[in-house]
Amino acid sequence: MTDLADVWVLAGSACAMALEPRGEGLPLWRHFGARVSADPVWPLAGARPLPPNALEGDPALDVLPCEGQGWFAHPALRGSRVGDANGDGTDWSQRFEVAQVRREANLLALHLEDRLGGLGLLLHYALDPATDVLTTWAELDNRGSTDFRVDWLAAACVPLPPEAEQVIGFTGRWTLEFQQSRERLGVAAWRRDCRRGRNGHEGPPSVIVGTDLADDLGPAWGAHLGWSGNHSLFIEPLTDGRRQLQLGEWLAPGELVLAPGERYRTPEAFLSFSPQGLNGLAGNYHRHVRKAVLKWPGGRMGPRPVLLNTWEGVYFEHEMEGLKALASAAADVGVERFVLDDGWFHGRHSDRSSLGDWWADESKYPRGLSPLVEHVRGLGLQFGLWVEPEMVNPDSELYRAHPDWALAMAGRPAILGRNQLVLDLTRAEVTDHLFDRLDGLLREHPIDYLKWDMNRDLATAAVGAGHRGRAAYRRHTLALYALLGRLREAHPGVEIESCASGGGRADMGILRHTQRVWTSDCNDALARIGIQSGFLRFLPPEIMGAHIGPARVHTTGRTLGLAFRAGVALFGHLGVELDVRELGPDERDELAGWIARHKAWRDTVHHGVLRQGAHGGLSWLQSTAEDGAAALVAVYRRVEEAARYMPALQVPGLDPARTYRAELLHLPGVPHSATSTPLLDRLVSGTLTLSGAQLAQFGLPLPPMPPESALLIGLRALA
Ligand code: GLA
Repeated sequence: MTDLADVWVLAGSACAMALEPRGEGLPLWRHFGARVSADPVWPLAGARPLPPNALEGDPALDVLPCEGQGWFAHPALRGSRVGDANGDGTDWSQRFEVAQVRREANLLALHLEDRLGGLGLLLHYALDPATDVLTTWAELDNRGSTDFRVDWLAAACVPLPPEAEQVIGFTGRWTLEFQQSRERLGVAAWRRDCRRGRNGHEGPPSVIVGTDLADDLGPAWGAHLGWSGNHSLFIEPLTDGRRQLQLGEWLAPGELVLAPGERYRTPEAFLSFSPQGLNGLAGNYHRHVRKAVLKWPGGRMGPRPVLLNTWEGVYFEHEMEGLKALASAAADVGVERFVLDDGWFHGRHSDRSSLGDWWADESKYPRGLSPLVEHVRGLGLQFGLWVEPEMVNPDSELYRAHPDWALAMAGRPAILGRNQLVLDLTRAEVTDHLFDRLDGLLREHPIDYLKWDMNRDLATAAVGAGHRGRAAYRRHTLALYALLGRLREAHPGVEIESCASGGGRADMGILRHTQRVWTSDCNDALARIGIQSGFLRFLPPEIMGAHIGPARVHTTGRTLGLAFRAGVALFGHLGVELDVRELGPDERDELAGWIARHKAWRDTVHHGVLRQGAHGGLSWLQSTAEDGAAALVAVYRRVEEAARYMPALQVPGLDPARTYRAELLHLPGVPHSATSTPLLDRLVSGTLTLSGAQLAQFGLPLPPMPPESALLIGLRALA
């Protein structure tokens, strides 16, 4: 036994991490993945045969691999001293030792120090058995007498086994966010950097790795950074066949310099593992976001109000009587919250001007917003308002009064995006001004909800004039969080939506301050199936803004039926984004029917366990109530296929011993297909009952479905 080394294990219910302690030397990574026990193991340190031509004591992956000490892969810390008597660039190579260890049931805190380098470092790991999410962060402490410049500090650095060769990365663009791209890892590193100052439409700070990455089976690892600014994440092969995964904040040159005594805490990284494929992994993250990230007004989430957003209905054409009529029409079909989008404030008649001037436009709202707010509240609806506080148009009163309030680089031309500049939130007078404006609006009117938009990437984002200023991405993100925090403290009952031209800022950092994400400016149900699938890999459906848009989709030009548009939007936080006044009576009734269906099932969807899958031209979603008493299932046919018959619809996850009544919520009509079956007849008449075992094992035979259609079935356990 004396040959064996102890391991420190943090174990969840199906996920665990294990480190091999080495006295003062940094612990080695032994495992991150499926649950393991804390039995002693053959050590890597010392017991690993040294191959020819290797450095003496060739290091295996430890908790903080550093530069210049025999570690040749990417280090977890990169930095060096500046302004040192010996010149810049010293202490670029660090060697940390363990100074103190705190071990609790689900927590491990390693206090490290590099005495020679004048640095302290805290590594924090907490694994929650209720979610199987491992939260990690690092904090660097400059104990030297000169500045220390940080170029990289990983929020997480973990090993992946050799068989984890498949990766799902995210990509996208405006109106096509959260696209999943499957790739095979090779001999070179897989890497993704974001330098846009926000996550951007190119993808959230997330990655999934696995062997086959099947929907419900097989090992899957996930990583996500709770940070709304720049990020890097990479997976790099190691010399022992494993790979290391690191993620953290991408730092611009010189962006982060720690003065003596200063500290830098990385954002939190959220890692997880599931033996149950992509859906098991998503389940872990959904539980985590629900339990540890979201902060609801009133402390808990109530039924998510169905909203109407005015954007695609009226754009900038705000006219009081028309808006009142729109709100009334919306209330008639069952809408519960009216959100006044862009176009309401001083001088805002297009996207070319006025950001910054946050008071009601005098021509459109001669008596202010009150008459509209009162009308909306009088209908029993909540009132929501669109704002884009971080921005300013050069053509605005605010910019004319304070041209120096925008982020800029001295002597360099400003780069516009959607005709706007980014305000310098690092200046207290700017955030105070924004707080006063927003606070004023919230005090003046009973506003329940803010749609907080952010419509451009940061570019010439610098603060300070010297040498054209220092990069301000990080400070912008921190100042944004502080502003949101201040506002929420002053108005704890107000819900906030995170929008960045759609889903450009969807991460667990912003979600500490917000309760909804505007997933995409694309309301095209066909495109939305893929967009929402990617979103739901990490984030739960109750915060996924999903709207029923106009029949002729504004961003793609496709024309889609109401049932398909509604059937796809039903699985998120439902909204309507069309001019309800323009609908005929039949369409209004149909829309009201879909809203009623959503209300009947939102409790299941918004608290439930989500399962998604796709095969050929079909996709499906299943939301199962946590107690197994109900499930909502949707099948979407995106495109035609050569197969003559539909596969059976299997519904796992229900109680095998209980009996469920199937309720057909929508059956798409198929031209030329008139035949029925006894099963279909019973489904249509609401008399079909099946056990949870039957539903899981054999499922339901499905009728043919035309392209761009949705089929929805609800299942409820009989008492
Ligand atoms: C962004 C948002 C849209 C809408 C417009 C208004 O594009 O994503 O939903 O609010 O701004 O200008």
